[in-house]
Amino acid sequence: MSKYSSPVVTLDGPSGSGKGTISLRIADALSWHYLDSGALYRIVGLIASRTSIPFSDEAGVSKIARSMQVEFIAGQVFLEGEPVEDEIRTEQAGNRASQVATLPLVRSALLEWQRQCAKPPGLVADGRDMGTVVFPNATCKIFLTATADARAQRRFNQLRLKGFDVNIRQLFEEITERDRRDAERKNSPLVPADDAITIDTTKMSIEQVSDSILLHIQNSGLTIPDK
Ligand code: C5P
Repeated sequence: MSKYSSPVVTLDGPSGSGKGTISLRIADALSWHYLDSGALYRIVGLIASRTSIPFSDEAGVSKIARSMQVEFIAGQVFLEGEPVEDEIRTEQAGNRASQVATLPLVRSALLEWQRQCAKPPGLVADGRDMGTVVFPNATCKIFLTATADARAQRRFNQLRLKGFDVNIRQLFEEITERDRRDAERKNSPLVPADDAITIDTTKMSIEQVSDSILLHIQNSGLTIPDK
């Protein structure tokens, strides 16, 4: 059992590894809460760019992270009541997020916010450092990977579906650059926790990945409710 008031399952990995889609399915199968930690960094980047606070201004950007009013309602993200889902899902927003995410003061400002999401009956937490830093005592930790080509293709399909005009080559370069920045940063880099189970999803369907994770969750002693 975890040290938190509720059990936590963490899903970490690079962009396009399938974390978002899979985490939502797992949260649904367990009837648990879901934390999309990437959205928090995306919103910090959005506010900084709207208010022209340079990403190099660590104190200024961390102030945003400490004071922003964010709500997740029915799969949509709201900033002080304003729906910002579309605006934060672009690749440009992802890049801004990965720049503000290198700032230690921003990460520490978001730490408590994220930990408070561990509420009964349980939490599925999706991000880069869920298993290493935010929930080191999580009951079950999963690290999803896939080749850079497969990840760029998935992001391409996802963004196209949302109506964004994207170029696969450019997307591949942006994703590779973002992953390099996430993996090489000093603070909470993108690495699997020592006790995480790594799954390469390159050739797997969403159902296969979900089934495999649910099995690991069961093996860690948690119960999957009958639906
Ligand atoms: O997961 P998503 O693509 O929305 O994350 C956007 C960016 O936010 C990532 O590239 C990463 O730099 C940052 N992030 C992070 N730690 C997390 C979640 C996201 O640094 N737990």
